Amino acid sequence: MSFHVSLVGRKNLSREIYRQIARAILEGRLRPGDRLSPSRELAEALDVSRMTVNVAYERLAGEGFVTTRQGAGTFVSDSVTRLAPKAAKPQSRGALQSRTIWQSVSVQTPFAQPAHYDFRTGLPDAALFPHPAWRRCVSQALLSIGSTAGIYGDPAGLGDLRAAIARQIGFSRGVEASADDIIVTTGTQQALDIIARVLLSPCDTIAVEEPGYVLPRLLFHSMGLRVAGVPVDQEGIVVARLPHRARAVYVTPSHQFPLSVAMTLRRRLALLAWAERNDAAIIEDDYDSEFRFGGRPLDSLQSIDAKGYVIYVGSFSKTMLPTLRLGFLIAPPSLREALLSAKFVSDWHTSGIAQGALARFMEEGSFARHIRKMTAVYRERHAMITEIVARDFAEHLELLPSEAGLHVAAFARTVTVDQINKVVLHAAERRVAIQDFVTAAAAPPVRAGLMLGYGAISSKRIRGGLRLLRQCLDEMPRPA
Ligand SMILES: Cc1ncc(COP(=O)(O)O)c(C=O)c1O
Repeated sequence: MSFHVSLVGRKNLSREIYRQIARAILEGRLRPGDRLSPSRELAEALDVSRMTVNVAYERLAGEGFVTTRQGAGTFVSDSVTRLAPKAAKPQSRGALQSRTIWQSVSVQTPFAQPAHYDFRTGLPDAALFPHPAWRRCVSQALLSIGSTAGIYGDPAGLGDLRAAIARQIGFSRGVEASADDIIVTTGTQQALDIIARVLLSPCDTIAVEEPGYVLPRLLFHSMGLRVAGVPVDQEGIVVARLPHRARAVYVTPSHQFPLSVAMTLRRRLALLAWAERNDAAIIEDDYDSEFRFGGRPLDSLQSIDAKGYVIYVGSFSKTMLPTLRLGFLIAPPSLREALLSAKFVSDWHTSGIAQGALARFMEEGSFARHIRKMTAVYRERHAMITEIVARDFAEHLELLPSEAGLHVAAFARTVTVDQINKVVLHAAERRVAIQDFVTAAAAPPVRAGLMLGYGAISSKRIRGGLRLLRQCLDEMPRPA
C-alpha cells in the first residue's frame, strides 16, 4: 500500500516515517490488513537508505501498529483501533489522556531551519526589517506604559493602535472601519479561534478552501466542527459547491492560499449572495495583500458587504514579522460584544507592549515606509520568478496569475502528485526549500503543483535556486 510520506525539512527521518505511518493508521487512512510498501521501495521513493525505513518499520512493529509476515510483507495489525487513545500517542502513556481529537492535530514546524535557497511561503524578509526603528518604538512603549503597566488593558486592544489600523486599511484596502470596529488579536489564528467560538457550535459545518491554509482547518477540526473542503478554481472558491448546511466559510480572496489567484468580482458577489441566502458568515482572511504589484486591487469582501455577513481578518505577520503575533479583526456590529467577550476569556488582551510599539511604528510613518520599501523588493522578486518560470519552465509548469502577496503558484504539466513530492525532496537535498500543494491539502490534491515563495529568498539567490529546481524537474521520468 503506498501512501504519502513527506520528509521536507525534517531532521530525524526514521522517526518521521514512523510518525506519519502511525498517524495514518490511527486516523484510518491505513486500515488493518493493509500492506505497507516494501522497505526497499519506500526507501527508493523517499530517496533515503533502506536502514532508515527499516528502523521506522521495526518501531511500528514493536509498538503493535504493524506485523511482519515472513515472505509476505508488513501489514497493519488487526488489533489497532482507529484513534485508540492508548496506541494513539505511544510516547505519552499516563493517567491523563487528551480528547481523541488531539490525536489528529499536531504541531507542524515546516520552518525549523533556514534554507540556502528559501522558496517557502509566508515568510517575510526579516533581514530587511527596520530593526533600529522598531527597537526605538519598543523602548518608547516600555517607557510610556509606566504606571499602567500593572493593570490589565482593554480586550479590544490599545485605542491608538486601533486608530492607526483603521487609517491604514481604509487607505490601502478600502476597508471602512473606525477604531471602535477593530479588535486586536494575537495573529490571524486567534482571530479565527474567537470568531469560530462565537459563531459555531460543535458539529456545525464550516467550509474552507481546498487546497487551502492548513492551520485554520486544524483549528476548526480541534473545536469539533465539521470542516468541508470546497474546491478552488481560477476565480476563487467555487461557490456552487458550498454545502447548504455550512454556517460559515473561511476564504483568502485577495491572494488565495496556496493557488495565489484573486477571487473575481463575479465570485465575490456570488459568495455574498450565498451567505445571505444561507444566513452564513464569511471570514475574509486578507493576510498578505498589502503587497501589490500591478492591476487595481479588487475591493475587499468586507467593503462590498452591505448586509453584515463578512468578518475581515488582518495580520502583521507578513507586513511586520510573524514572531510578533499581532493581527486584528473587524466584525459587523451584531457580533462585536460577543467577540470582545471571547477575546477577554481567551487571553484578556494581546501584549500591551507589542501593541504600543506597533502603534508608534505606524504613527511615525515607519510602517508605511516599510511597506513601500518591501513592495518594491517583493515586486522585483515576483517579476524575476514569474519571468524565469514562464521562460525556462514552460514545459514543466503552468504559472497561475497573481499580482500580490509573498508567493506565486504553478501547476505541474508533466509530473504527478507523487513525483512533485520527490522533486521537493530532491530539491531539499540541493538546499532548495520549496513546498508542493500537498502541504496545503486535506486530501491528495487534484493536480500536482508548487508554491514559490519569495519573502525569504534574496533576489540574488533566485536564479541559482530556480536552476537547481529545474534540474530536479528535468530528472523526473515523464509519465508514459
Ligand atoms: C493564508 C494565511 N493567513 C494568515 C496567515 C498569518 O497567520 P498569523 O497572523 O496567525 O501569523 C498566514 C501565514 O502564513 C497564511 O498563510
